[in-house]
Amino acid sequence: MGHPIIHVVRDADVVAQQAADIVGEVVRAHPTAVLALPTGRTPIELYQKLGVRHRRGELSFAHTQIFNLDEWVGVAPASPGSYARFMEEHFYAHVDVPAPQRHIPNGLAPNLGVECERYEKLIRQSGGIDLAVLGIGSNGHIGFNEPGTPEDSCTHVVLLSTLTRRANAYAFPRGQVPHRAITMGIGTILDARQILLLAVGSTKANALTKALFGNVTPSVPASFLQHHANVTVIADTAAAMLFPRSSAASYS
Ligand code: F6R
Repeated sequence: MGHPIIHVVRDADVVAQQAADIVGEVVRAHPTAVLALPTGRTPIELYQKLGVRHRRGELSFAHTQIFNLDEWVGVAPASPGSYARFMEEHFYAHVDVPAPQRHIPNGLAPNLGVECERYEKLIRQSGGIDLAVLGIGSNGHIGFNEPGTPEDSCTHVVLLSTLTRRANAYAFPRGQVPHRAITMGIGTILDARQILLLAVGSTKANALTKALFGNVTPSVPASFLQHHANVTVIADTAAAMLFPRSSAASYS
């Protein structure tokens, strides 16, 4: 059991700055660090900042291993909406991670069960995750672990909720969001030595508040983070607007 360190900051720009500071500290301290990284709207500014720091010569990812949290099933890596393409555009094009050190589940694998096992094993063989950076869904999901996912889950195929599919419609032509994804499990994420959860905007307020201050329950998957000893949360004021007054969050 741990107490997450919670920072509430002015806006998305400061969330990204502070997140980039933490990623930078981990990578400078352990140049061979294994990172789990998210996609979606939340981390885009973080990746921009990491790209800038890399260009300035302050940060190198040359010896890191990167594992994405998830990928859609049935979407080719080069297709619009794929997380492989997202990572290429927002992160890999701007930093120095060698291609063999970039890992993402293969949503086109002929046998998805085998692919999940391969991915889970690869994470373990790489020495486990040093830092997992997470966003949060408005239903409390982390990775694509939807409500009801067990705490000890490994990488698996998930049937996405209507809410999650609707939230991601912007990324797909004609809003045709896949029904399934491969995601690291909650157990995979909780095995990370350090976790950084980012939340931006009022649509995350309810889920984030329940996750941090509510009961630990599979109906709010992010609440399982309360069982981890080294979690830092960075939220903007909108995402933190429902926090209890007595919370131990630091405001800046
Ligand atoms: C994506 C992922 C998801 C997102 C979450 C929030 O790789 O793992 O858990 O972090 O759906 O998405 P955004 O940031 O688009 O609000």
